[in-house]
Amino acid sequence: EKCKTLIIAVDGHSSTGKSTVAKLLASRLGYTYIDTGAMYRAVTLEALRKGFIVGEKVEEEKLKNCLSEIHIDFRYNPADRRYETYLNGEYIEEQIRTMEVSGKVSLIARIGFVRKFLVEQQREMGKAGGIVMDGRDIGSVVFPHADVKFFMTASPEVRAMRRYKELLEKGEKVEYAEVEENVRKRDYLDEHRAEGPLVKTADALLIDNSEMTIEEEVQVMLEKIEEKRRG
Ligand code: DC
Repeated sequence: EKCKTLIIAVDGHSSTGKSTVAKLLASRLGYTYIDTGAMYRAVTLEALRKGFIVGEKVEEEKLKNCLSEIHIDFRYNPADRRYETYLNGEYIEEQIRTMEVSGKVSLIARIGFVRKFLVEQQREMGKAGGIVMDGRDIGSVVFPHADVKFFMTASPEVRAMRRYKELLEKGEKVEYAEVEENVRKRDYLDEHRAEGPLVKTADALLIDNSEMTIEEEVQVMLEKIEEKRRG
């Protein structure tokens, strides 16, 4: 029996709980999980710190010049059994999940040279297989030949409510309306950017999880992967 380790692409809208199921899936399969959104968030954090984002404008030339100094890596934390994001050796897992970064990340994710820079690294990280990679353009751009592709969605209201509860739990003071607006705005920007827009490829399995439990979702995904393995 061949034990080929697959490349599994998980794309979809923001706040669909993609990362939760992708992580679970990876751990069930004994695969490595890679959160590519964290990489766009890390670049955004760095751009914010350097003052390269002014309102809705990014000083692209300045960002371009220091891009090669941005080193992102994921380190496994055995206590929490999860991969955590580091920027130039600094732990930034919490800082990249704030509303401030979420509100600006689309501005960074639409820049062609940023995408090229990160896509190259993602290809390198995933090429050996045994990987579950979560993002927006994994099945369309990063690994068009991924072995299995999923495309996750849910209604904007369901997604905004999930995100709202998450932020409240973290102690962030936000209004539901603000979160829903952020979700809708990110959908629009993700789907309409020129480079690597969010798009469901024909070969991706669409999963609308508005009314599914996480466990149901993981089961559907595992079945699809089994099907692929049987060939
Ligand atoms: O998955 P997330 O919400 O953490 O992603 C953060 C942002 O990064 C989101 O606005 C879309 C963008 N992104 C992207 O453009 N391409 C990816 N592969 C992953 C995320």
